[in-house]
Amino acid sequence: APRIDPITTTAASAPPKKVLVPIGFGTEEMEAVILADVLRRAGAEVTVASVEKQLEVEAYGGTRLVADTFISACSTEIFDLVALPGGMPGSARLRDCEVLQKITSRQAEEKRLYGAICAAPAVALLPWGLLKRKQTTCHPAFIDKISSFRAVKTNTQVSGELTTSRGPGTSFEFAICLVEQLFGEPVAREIGELLLMNPAGDDPKRQEFNEVGWSLDRTPQVLIPIANGSEEIEVVTLIDILRRAKVNVVVASVEKSAQVLASSGTKIVADKLINATSDSIFDLIILPGGTAAAERLHKSKILKKLLKEQESAGRIFGAICSSPAVLQKQGLIKDKKATAHPAVLDKLKDGVNDAQVVIDGKLITSQGLATAIQFALAIVSKLFGHARARSVAEGLVYQYPRS
Ligand SMILES: *[C@@H]1O[C@H](CO)[C@@H](O)[C@H](O)[C@H]1NC(C)=O
Ligand SMILES: *[C@@H]1O[C@H](CO)[C@@H](O)[C@H](O)[C@H]1NC(C)=O
Repeated sequence: APRIDPITTTAASAPPKKVLVPIGFGTEEMEAVILADVLRRAGAEVTVASVEKQLEVEAYGGTRLVADTFISACSTEIFDLVALPGGMPGSARLRDCEVLQKITSRQAEEKRLYGAICAAPAVALLPWGLLKRKQTTCHPAFIDKISSFRAVKTNTQVSGELTTSRGPGTSFEFAICLVEQLFGEPVAREIGELLLMNPAGDDPKRQEFNEVGWSLDRTPQVLIPIANGSEEIEVVTLIDILRRAKVNVVVASVEKSAQVLASSGTKIVADKLINATSDSIFDLIILPGGTAAAERLHKSKILKKLLKEQESAGRIFGAICSSPAVLQKQGLIKDKKATAHPAVLDKLKDGVNDAQVVIDGKLITSQGLATAIQFALAIVSKLFGHARARSVAEGLVYQYPRS
């Protein structure tokens, strides 16, 4: 988006709230990145720490994330919150890290906030003895491990200092619940609005014009170009959900380096540089947003050429958040219907403002941030049908309409 400065929530003199998000091989990237990004937007000082011997960690869906530091550098720090993302084997990597176990146990003993999502409550907190006498939720695939007296099926459960949640699809709710505990309800509500989260009870809206089929007779190849300033929530949501649906995703940096610095400080390593893709043909090209990144994507000559070919060959392309404006500037939207982040919608000639996802023929666009989940699932549904999208949504623990 339209980069929004972290809200100043506390008096200038108050120390910032410190949050630890540990990651390991196979950590669920949506959970880790949404937690870190949302808490940073609220003004927290978030440390993403690797429990591995290297800072670069390949997440569950293959996203390569670079941690800020090693867990060993955090052992004497006092955190206001320690929040464990899930995923497998990520949750087991966290469980096996003694330093993290000590930090989290001390957190619980000293009655500061701690939390876990997805597999992590059952796989890490349970064997550490940190779920005792606490109502707990977790991913449906792991809920059997929790004592049936304490297991609950709510999306997010607060029980004293402990907050637990169910999966990638409940990550926004989990993060907002933690923001509320650290910063209060007004801040949580404001951040929820900035994230374009759907108000509870409202069904997300998708509009389709000039309907055509997108199904292919082979594994779809998707290019996701990224740049410094890309919106990390959108990048990891697209990568994770498309790979869960068995799409072949290529993440390409338009920078000189494969590593980019995303808009809220997440470091992501692309699979390759954009110039190594110039001779490839992709079935889809999807641009994630981020104001600064949109400019940088727009300036890439190779991406411009790929997008132009995409359009003239009648192949699928799309964009989310601030990036539909890139397609507009490159003359690729023409008279098609599209949407974008509310702050850039007026840049589109024919912007649709009351749908989270808009499809017009082979063009797909979306508003941004929290709507990235619906955006990615809409792509899955167009490529493989509604049943595949529903089954991916089920794994995410994300409510997806029956039809
Ligand atoms: C791609 O760009 C990088 C950095 O600008 C350069 O080192 C490399 O040789 C280029 N590769 C190709 C295939 O053009
Ligand atoms: C982009 O981010 C990378 C990784 O943090 C950094 O090394 C590089 O200098 C940045 N590039 C520009 C042009 O700012």
